[in-house]
Parts: sequence; structure tokens; C-alpha cells
Amino acid sequence: VVEELAANGRRSSSKAAPAAVRVVALADHDSAAAERVPTGVEEVDRVLGGGLVRGSVVLLAGEPGVGKSTLTLQLASSIAAREEVLLVCGEESPQQVRARAARVGPVRPRIATIADPSIDSVLSAASATSGTVIVDSIQTVFDPEIPSAPGSVSQVRECGARLARLARDDGITIVLVGHVTKDGAVAGPRVLEHLVDVVLTFEGDRQAGIRILRPLKNRFGSTHEAGFFEMSQDGLVAIRDASAYLLADRSPGAPGSVLAACVEGRRPFILEMQALVVPNHGAPPRRIAQGVDAARLSVIVAVIESHLGIGMRDKDVFVSAVGGIRAFEPAADLPIALAILSSLRKTPLPEELVAFGEIGLAGEARRVAASDRRLVEAAGVGCRRAAVPASLVSEVIGIELSGVRHLRDAQDIIRTAKPGRG
Ligand SMILES: Nc1ncnc2c1ncn2[C@@H]1O[C@H](COP(=O)(O)OP(=O)(O)O)[C@@H](O)[C@H]1O
Ligand SMILES: [Mg+2]
Repeated sequence: VVEELAANGRRSSSKAAPAAVRVVALADHDSAAAERVPTGVEEVDRVLGGGLVRGSVVLLAGEPGVGKSTLTLQLASSIAAREEVLLVCGEESPQQVRARAARVGPVRPRIATIADPSIDSVLSAASATSGTVIVDSIQTVFDPEIPSAPGSVSQVRECGARLARLARDDGITIVLVGHVTKDGAVAGPRVLEHLVDVVLTFEGDRQAGIRILRPLKNRFGSTHEAGFFEMSQDGLVAIRDASAYLLADRSPGAPGSVLAACVEGRRPFILEMQALVVPNHGAPPRRIAQGVDAARLSVIVAVIESHLGIGMRDKDVFVSAVGGIRAFEPAADLPIALAILSSLRKTPLPEELVAFGEIGLAGEARRVAASDRRLVEAAGVGCRRAAVPASLVSEVIGIELSGVRHLRDAQDIIRTAKPGRG
């Protein structure tokens, strides 16, 4: 149930005769190209498609603790080298923000702050600035005329809409920070998605590992980009070579481990897929997925059971994409299956083997997008052989393809693997 403002409130519907409406041919409008202002934070600019578009509204959504405030402070520091930035500090006091800003970059004089997140204060301060406004977070901004609490659907929607109107009318760039919860945010930023021009999601393991910035929606550019970051003492640091980062602690030669070639947006990266298959001693079988889709894992186990004739009911299966990254794409199927078979047979796979491909319900291997990009990335980390769907043809130099038509062929790869090699 969503509380709405009564009709006799601010938005009273006047039944006055409509004023004459000006209708203009589309061709008669200026086709002014969007003015893009680079933020100076390289990874963010790439994800945005070159920078922030003046007069646009960007929503940065993520779980608490993922690093939204840190990232926006880095943006503020970088943008303030050129123009004014207004920070709306709704979550933390300006003193706390000052302390954190000093950790992540120079505290520039052109960064102004306000601590009052009531919408009228925010709008009046924002219309007085010529540059960029950062609101951390939209859930703290409130309209005193709406009786529900800050962060409720009606507050978030109304305040978001008024900020978006200001951005369009006055040509101010606004970045809104929005919290989402694990279960998809009840009163969260989802209600803002249609209002804003760009939605960026920031995800990752809060303890360690890669944090990924993705465009979910971008009115001014592609959504096939991704930015990789790592949290450090000095704030978020871009990870240029994600594969090297993910493979740093690999212990080769262990059964149940294989390299998987994944893509995020347009960026390929190689990660280690691990599986551990153990007897469950009569307890109900468990399938535990970490960083991979639990439903896909169940399907792969069922396909192994049904098409390879291997009993799985007396076994627990654990699968993990190492490095705190999510490998939810179908291309992870084949590496998951290989890792499970390798653990089952207690046979290590060749260290220089990489795999990718979807597995169908009949056990067949199917092609996935961006194959060449995956192979080039794999060659870059030293892979010499790739287990891929048999229909794939590739010219990538330095990698020999092992075509997999059916999961049975994957079993042959295990059989021919020389234990202890690599
Ligand atoms: N001194 C520090 N050194 C390294 N990491 C830190 C430090 N202080 C905070 N962090 C990290 O920053 C995270 C908080 O980031 P923050 O930007 O406040 O997240 P959000 O705004 O998304 O809630 C913490 O979870 C922690 O991982
Ligand atoms: Mg925060």
C-alpha cells in the first residue's frame, strides 16, 4: 500500500481551460548534441560513455557498504578540479564526509556541502550552483508536505521527480545515490529508474574482491560496459587487468579447478571455477553455489546424472567462482561441469586449459556470444587449450580448440588429462 498526497494538496487538479498548446515538428528542433563532461575518474567515464551529460540525472544504486559514498566523493574531488560541486550530505554529517574525503583525494575548495536534506533546501541550493549536484542519498531527501517517512515510495518518487525537473530546466547535472537491499529494494531506487537518464549499479563483495560498476540504463550511451574496482585505504582503485587480479592466488594442479572465460558488458575476464564433490553419508544432497547461478548448477548436476549416468544423489556438490565475482552467464556451464567431473574423478585438468559454453538439457554444448574476445583474453593469461562448443570456429592464434559436442566429450577431456600435469 503506497501513501499518496490527497487531491486537495499541492497537486490540486485545476479544471481551467487548457492554454493553447504549441506543437512543433520534430525536424524543426535543434539537434544539439548532448554536452559530455568527463568526470576525470577514467573507469566511471568509460562506463558512462565518455562522461556526465549536462542536465542529466544519474542514479548510482547499490547495497549499503559497497562503496557508493566513496565513489561519489572521488567523483566530487575530480570534478571540482574544474567546476563547482554541491554535496548533499543526508547520510553522514559534513564532518564525517570531510574526514572521508581527505582519505580519497584532495578536499577541493569548490566542493560545497549542505546538511539539510529537505527537498526545498536541496532545490534552492542546487539551483544556485552551476555545476554538478551529488545527493547522498535520495532516501534521506524528504518533502515535509508528504506525511510518510523519508525513504518511502512516495517520498523517493516525488523528490526524485522534482530534482529531475530541475536538472532538465536548469541544465544541472545531478547524481543521486540510492540504496538497494538484497531482496530488490521495496521503497528503493527502482521507483526512480524511469525518471532518470542513467542508472548505474554498483555491486560486489563488501569484504574483499572486485566491485563492478554497470550501466543498467543509459539514454546517452551503451549499456555494454563495466568498470572494475577494488576498495583500498585511499578509496576505490580501478582494476585494469581483472584476469590477473582474479588468478593471483590460483593453486594449479588441484582436482576440481578449471579456468572459465567470462564477459561482463564487453569486458572479458578469466576466473577460476572450483568444484568439490563429496559423499553426503545419507543426508539430503546439497548443491551449494557461490558466485554462480544456483538454478544452473542444479540443471548441470541433473544433466550429469541423466546423460552421463553418474549417480549424484549420494553426493554434495559445492561450486564457487573464485574472487567474489558473479559468473551468472550460461557460458559458465561448461567450466562448472568440467570442474564437477574433475572433482568426481579426482583428476586435475591441464593448467593451461580454459573453458566456456552453455550446456543444454540434452547435454549438448551450445555456442555463446563474444567467443573470440574470451579466447584472446585466455591466451593473454597463458592458456594454450580451450574446451568450447564444437560448432565454434576461431582464428585466435596460440589456442588450440577442443570441440565439445556433448558433455560426454567433456568426460574425455578429463580422461585424457594427465594427472599432476602442470
Ligand atoms: N579506511 C578504510 N580502508 C579501506 N576500506 C575502507 C576504509 N573505510 C571504509 N572502507 C570500505 O568502504 C566501505 C564503505 O563504503 P561506502 O562508500 O560508505 O559505502 P556506501 O556508501 O555504498 O554504503 C566499507 O564497507 C569498507 O569496505
Ligand atoms: Mg554511503
